[in-house]
Amino acid sequence: MRPIFIKNASQLITIKNSSNTPLIKEAMSNLGIIENGSVLIENGRIIAVGKDNALSNQYSERLKEALVIDASGKLVTPGLVDPHTHLIFAGSREQEFNMRLQGKTYMEIMEMGGGIHTTARQTKSASQEELFNEGYERLNQFLLHGVTTIEAKSGYGMEWETERKQLEVVKSLNQQHVVDIVSTFMGAHAVPKKYKVNPEQYVELVIKEMIPKVAELGLAEFNDVFCEKGVFTPKQDKRILDTGKEFGLRPKIHADEIEPYGGAELAAEVGAISADHLLKTSEIGSYLMAKRGVVGVLLPGTAYFLMAEFANARKLIDKGVPVALATDFNPGSSPTASLPFIMNLGCLKMGMTPAEVIPAATINAAHAIGRGNEIGSIEVGKKADITIFNVSNFMKLQYFYGINHTDTVIKNGQIVVKGGKIE
Ligand code: NIG
Ligand code: FE
Repeated sequence: MRPIFIKNASQLITIKNSSNTPLIKEAMSNLGIIENGSVLIENGRIIAVGKDNALSNQYSERLKEALVIDASGKLVTPGLVDPHTHLIFAGSREQEFNMRLQGKTYMEIMEMGGGIHTTARQTKSASQEELFNEGYERLNQFLLHGVTTIEAKSGYGMEWETERKQLEVVKSLNQQHVVDIVSTFMGAHAVPKKYKVNPEQYVELVIKEMIPKVAELGLAEFNDVFCEKGVFTPKQDKRILDTGKEFGLRPKIHADEIEPYGGAELAAEVGAISADHLLKTSEIGSYLMAKRGVVGVLLPGTAYFLMAEFANARKLIDKGVPVALATDFNPGSSPTASLPFIMNLGCLKMGMTPAEVIPAATINAAHAIGRGNEIGSIEVGKKADITIFNVSNFMKLQYFYGINHTDTVIKNGQIVVKGGKIE
């Protein structure tokens, strides 16, 4: 493999992070910017980072055989990381979108048998091949927006065969698509209609049958639950998450999205790697998350699309919660693969600065999926996952909003997007 030399970026954002923990408070504004910065990549890894003139001198021999990417006038960042998606599903829900525009709420639609249930029906009848092909195209969309790693959840089955099918598709996509995918089991995404009168029975099914099989087949690393009034209670979620832990699955929680319901508190109690959404999180909940180092994964695309109040990122950051950003890509509440747009919402709707949204979508996002040692910053020894944007500084990435500025993406040390197009 030929070495790659990214040369002379207007701003090279390294996010040097020697602590190996997610960034909090003021540290989230410390981007480790190198002006006229260059990066040398070999065998899929970053081997040197620094000022262009220093690197050009030091590595002059090696550079003779390198492929040089001229990044003059451009912004270079770690490849973006999306730590919360529902990538695999069939169909789409534009009719429900229309109903919401007429005044129906997300929960009303779900209670009428729509919402997650609509997607579950469609996903059940789709073949593995159909799900794979759609998933592949969606991963291309992520890549075109500068994203090099994502998390993906099951949860549109809520019965074993469809859950398994979704997780198998995630596994094959991870093998066959250049974007890395971290897998999460989310059997507790909604209570299936036939268990409405006895949701405990469904909880038993998740605990006794699904989690052991997921672990036995090695289909997921994380275990997620929807902790929400009318869906699963904190008590039920605790049982599901504790069982997951016994089987080696690390907990994640969809917490306090629609009502304050103790999701953040539960995340701290079970030692979840992240608690996600957090629109209605209590004071004590965010305090406990900060104390326990639980990453707060905020999903402003969901508040935007559901026309809800946004999470208060400013308050969470000031309290010491490590904040990350994600798309929540899914057919009901956030059908977008544009993490840069989510970063823009972070600034305009959640009180974050243009600096803070960068670690939120890179190093902190990587920590939210257990990959902080491997990706999320541009440091010697890390995986060479790097995005080059067609803007000269990080503020312009937010200022010229709604435009895809992605120019080049390097994944595992290879150019996979060039001139805004997949290679
Ligand atoms: O994160 N809140 C639950 N799950 C998803 C939405 C899934 C859907 O509506 O299909 C979310 O917003
Ligand atoms: Fe979600």
